[in-house]
Amino acid sequence: MKLIGICGSPRNGNTEWMLHKMLEMAEKGGAQAELILLRNKDIKLCDGCLSCEAGGKERKGDCKIKDDMQEIYPKLLTADAWVIGTPVYFGMVSGLLKNFMDRTCPIWTKLDGKPIAGIAVAEEGPWDVIANIKTYASVCGMKWIGSVKALAKTPRQVAKDETVEKRLARLTAKLLQSAV
Ligand SMILES: Cc1cc2nc3c(=O)[nH]c(=O)nc-3n(C[C@H](O)[C@H](O)[C@H](O)COP(=O)(O)O)c2cc1C
Repeated sequence: MKLIGICGSPRNGNTEWMLHKMLEMAEKGGAQAELILLRNKDIKLCDGCLSCEAGGKERKGDCKIKDDMQEIYPKLLTADAWVIGTPVYFGMVSGLLKNFMDRTCPIWTKLDGKPIAGIAVAEEGPWDVIANIKTYASVCGMKWIGSVKALAKTPRQVAKDETVEKRLARLTAKLLQSAV
C-alpha cells in the first residue's frame, strides 16, 4: 500500500506537521509513504493550452511544461491513496495547491476510484476549503474518505491541540483500509 501526501503550504507549518504525522502513522501500519512538499518543487502555472487532452478521455497527451510535475505524475498514478493538505487562504485552498490541482489535468481521468482524504488548517475558518478539495476529488471520480480540520496560526501551534493526533490516526486508519 503506497500513500502519497501532498502539502500545499508554502512554509514548514501546521499542514506539513499534520501530514508528516499521518504518513508516520501509515508507515507504522505497514504502508509505504511519501510526502510531496509543493513549496520545494518547481511547478509552473497551468497555461490552459489543453494539449494534455490529446486522445480524449484516454489522455494520451503529456503536459508540455517540463518541470517537476513530470516526476510527480507517475507517483500520483501509482499511489494507492492520496492525502492532500492545505492552509486556509481567504476561505479557499492555497494558490500552491490550486495550481497543483490544475496541473493534474493530464492525468485526472486516470484517478477514478482512488481514495483521497483532506487536511486543512486555519486560524479561524471557514471550512469551505474542505469542500474545495472534495470538489476536486469528485471531478476526478476519486473516493472521498474524510478530512481533519484544525485551528492554528503560527507554525507547529496545531501540535498543542490534543485531539488532532487522535483524529489523524482515525483518518489514517480509514485511508489504509480503503486502499486494500
Ligand atoms: C494569505 C493568507 C490568507 C489567510 N486566510 C485565512 C482565512 O481566510 N481564514 C483563516 O482562518 N486563516 C487564514 N490564514 C491563516 C492561515 O490559515 C494559518 O496561519 C494556518 O495555520 C496556515 O497553515 P500552515 O501553518 O500550514 O502554513 C491566512 C494566511 C495567509 C498567509
